[in-house]
Amino acid sequence: MASDIVWPPPVKRIRAYRNIVVDGACNIRCTYCEVKKAKVDQAATIRSLDRIFADYEPDGVLFRVESDGEITLYRKIVDHLQKRASEGYRIEVLSNGTKVPTALEGRPDLLWVFSVDGHTEEMNAKRGLKQAQIDRIIDAAVEVEAELQAVYWGQPVEQVNDWIDLLTARGYRGRLHFMPLLAFKGQPLTVNLRYADLHPADFLAPPEYFRRWNHIFDTGKRDAVCDQITNGYNYQVSGDEIRMVKCDCYSVPKHLVHGFGPIREFDNWPCGTCIANQEFNNSRDRMLAPQPGRIPLPIV
Ligand SMILES: C[S@@+](CC[C@H](N)C(=O)[O-])C[C@H]1O[C@@H](n2cnc3c(N)ncnc32)[C@H](O)[C@@H]1O
Ligand code: SF4
Ligand code: SF4
Repeated sequence: MASDIVWPPPVKRIRAYRNIVVDGACNIRCTYCEVKKAKVDQAATIRSLDRIFADYEPDGVLFRVESDGEITLYRKIVDHLQKRASEGYRIEVLSNGTKVPTALEGRPDLLWVFSVDGHTEEMNAKRGLKQAQIDRIIDAAVEVEAELQAVYWGQPVEQVNDWIDLLTARGYRGRLHFMPLLAFKGQPLTVNLRYADLHPADFLAPPEYFRRWNHIFDTGKRDAVCDQITNGYNYQVSGDEIRMVKCDCYSVPKHLVHGFGPIREFDNWPCGTCIANQEFNNSRDRMLAPQPGRIPLPIV
């Protein structure tokens, strides 16, 4: 009987994933988000970013840099990220997209992720975006193959499919990632989205992502390990202060946050009902490291 098992199995080298969250204020008020007031020392923040970058070889890591407000309000910080990206670091920036296309100008080496909850004002009701702003975000995402990160808070599935169809028609080649409105401190998820109800598109998260989401919605429990555990670490930057923590969820237990230094790994993590972009992070194209030639295995 013919076997479809391929040996040696195809393997791909991926980068380490490091998420850096810098303090920041925001220019909009999404109703589901708690933005703190922030006074940002951009020069100190840049010094901290460089301390973190210095710990890594550019080829081996993908940095996601974002703010707990809006990073594109801090021109010097984003210009510095562009400089480091032009030197070889692979850096993606998460933004609310309100400053595109200006935010993209003179920054050709940065990769982008934009948060937007749909292609209409109705779908973006909780972000308060105007149609012209939404159109600019989608135009920019198509043009620079930015990823789109959408909070799913209950938009009708027909509207979600209209958005998928629109992106398909526009030839979108990024990734459209839906994450549920977060349930804090292990509370049950309040929204669910099923892969089978969505129009097929290569830019959607894999079916396994939705299976995990549906399982958490149905049972209140996780049944899989997210990619943040296998390959991820977070840095929180407040000016000259750098704190570190294994995971990127909203309800990280405070005692697991530690000072700048070596990463700490865990067999177990108090994950609650969290499900977000970390779930399938390792499979994103941006995570692919330069592939050296296949190393022949010894034959014994
Ligand atoms: C806090 S924002 C900071 C970055 C930037 N201002 C933005 O909106 O992309 C990080 C991400 O969290 C998402 N977010 C905020 N509040 C959320 C909530 N209650 N549930 C799920 N995602 C949320 C945002 O839509 C965004 O994609
Ligand atoms: S744009 Fe980002 S940081 Fe600002 S309120 Fe919305 S989700 Fe929060
Ligand atoms: S809390 Fe969420 S992001 Fe953190 S390790 Fe668990 S599933 Fe992953």
